[in-house]
Amino acid sequence: MPYALVGTRLLMSTTFPRRRERQNRIPWLLDRLEREPRADKVIDALRTGVRSLPLGRGRDALHGRWLGHPVHPVAVQVPVGSWFSAAVLDLCPGRSREAGLLIGVGLVSAAPAALTGATDWAELRQEQQRVGLVHAVSNTVAFGLYAASLAYRAKGRTAAGRTLGFLGLTAVGVGGMLGGHLAYRQAAGANHAEEVPHVVREGWHRVGAVADLPAGRPVRRSVDDVPVLVVRGTGGTVHALADRCSHLAGPLSEGTVADGCVECPWHGSVFRLSDGWNVRGPATAPQPAFDTRVVEGHVEVRLRRGDHTEPADDGAGTDRRTNGTGVDTTHGLGS
Ligand code: FES
Repeated sequence: MPYALVGTRLLMSTTFPRRRERQNRIPWLLDRLEREPRADKVIDALRTGVRSLPLGRGRDALHGRWLGHPVHPVAVQVPVGSWFSAAVLDLCPGRSREAGLLIGVGLVSAAPAALTGATDWAELRQEQQRVGLVHAVSNTVAFGLYAASLAYRAKGRTAAGRTLGFLGLTAVGVGGMLGGHLAYRQAAGANHAEEVPHVVREGWHRVGAVADLPAGRPVRRSVDDVPVLVVRGTGGTVHALADRCSHLAGPLSEGTVADGCVECPWHGSVFRLSDGWNVRGPATAPQPAFDTRVVEGHVEVRLRRGDHTEPADDGAGTDRRTNGTGVDTTHGLGS
């Protein structure tokens, strides 16, 4: 190394000593929480309890299948907004009565928000459920503090009511931070098939010989490094969907095919093979679907873009043959 360069480096290292990056404690603590197994037995019991609630089709409504994404982040706006507004009013002289009213609104609206969160939580991965449990505990503590705040205000002990309200807001803040970690760091509630249209190139892609596809059995193929589920029906029709489930990226090619649909092996979401529509949750987003054709004995697939068919109904097995452009999208062996 030239002496001049060595000299420059020495000068820089003495003049500008390299700053030692300190690790932020919050992400470190949250990552530890994900790996903390001590509450797993409680989590198992709670998950079983939530899954056994007799919610019927209401369960999908709570997940947000009708909305296309989870309802929970929307539902929490009312209690969090009410409680935050109550804190602002508590800082204004003579507004404690209005603050109490908002605390009451928050308490009433917290129940449906908690129910949407619990149904989503029961279908998450273990690491997500660990964080979700602490998120729920923080919010339950907040609920208790606000209930006590309201009780004190009713007795005329406004100062104590205010103090409890501020403590409640602190607990809600901790719960919100954990909810953010769940949603953004751990991708709970996100659409895990969202990147497919951005990764798969336009046009037709060959995915293998028809003769290699066992009738009625799901097979995994790949297009531009994106796993694709390919199913050849007993009638010769070939269907293809993105393989990673939109809920939490479960492998649909390891799922069960029945009545024109595939059921995810992880949490039981059901997708219609003909167009990827999510017939049953917890998945709230449909699965990217491919047009298919057979050329010289080989199956070719082409991603359908932005033209999801209208859901006819939620009956499993509805077989749609067009993609909204009038183009035949499924081809039998002889096509
Ligand atoms: S990964 Fe959860 S239903 Fe598919």
